[in-house]
Amino acid sequence: MSTFPISTATTNQIKRKKVTTQTVRARKQAGQIISVLTAYDYPTALAMDQAGIDVILVGDSLGMVVLGYANTLPVTMEDMLHHCKAVSRGAQYALLVGDMPFMSYQVSTEQAVRNAGRFLQEAGMDAVKLEGGSERLNAIRAITLAGIPVMGHLGLTPQSVHMLGGFRPQGRDASAALHLFEDARLLQEAGCFSLVLESVPARLARYISERLEIPTIGIGAGAGCDGQVLVTHDLLGLFERFTPKFVKKYANLYQDMSEAFAAYKSEVEGHIFPAAEHSIEMPDSEWECFIEKAEHDE
Ligand code: KIV
Repeated sequence: MSTFPISTATTNQIKRKKVTTQTVRARKQAGQIISVLTAYDYPTALAMDQAGIDVILVGDSLGMVVLGYANTLPVTMEDMLHHCKAVSRGAQYALLVGDMPFMSYQVSTEQAVRNAGRFLQEAGMDAVKLEGGSERLNAIRAITLAGIPVMGHLGLTPQSVHMLGGFRPQGRDASAALHLFEDARLLQEAGCFSLVLESVPARLARYISERLEIPTIGIGAGAGCDGQVLVTHDLLGLFERFTPKFVKKYANLYQDMSEAFAAYKSEVEGHIFPAAEHSIEMPDSEWECFIEKAEHDE
């Protein structure tokens, strides 16, 4: 029998199980909040998994916060799969959701199923997310029939930015709120395992959450949702172009990064970096032998 004490960290790891779509549903039933964050690369996914984040969404927000586009429309399937693969190499426990990019599910049901399948088959995702309401029911039914879990997305749906007239809150008048509520019920009936509500009034999001069986995940939708999601680059203060009102910054990494780069430049220019401890040595005897041979051969 081993005499080594098992650390708390080790016992936690032994007990830890992979989060599934069933887990998030059970969390709603048990009244336990669901934590969701976006990630686009290996180290971020690793850190989130270690922090115990329930769901990692490889969002097409990738286009704005990592690739520098003005909106999410230019993001391609290949972009998404590339980043999903990196995330899946970093995260072992979180439920992994890949965001279907603009024009990957709108053209036909067949195209939607094939592209959804690529997220699972090629990129290690457990589920996909797509935007829209009643107009997406056929695609959602077909994808779930193929055995692929779907997360819905209502409210501010960034892929429809031009239809919505900009990145603006949704469901603020009675008829828009009713429409959103109807869409939420339709998405649940079509088979979505959960639903993102983005930028909608807090009381509407709470009302919908209380009436759906599937968990709602809010972003700019108040505290009444079953889970919360933020774009990680907003939370870390890495995306400087604009900060939506609903974002809380937990760090200011853009500033930290700029300061680190400036310090590096100044130390390189001042011949401070690299110092002796950053350099590789060789034994004096080998050096002397090298010099002798090198200079002899010259
Ligand atoms: O693309 C994304 O990151 C998203 C979240 C904001 C929900 O869709």
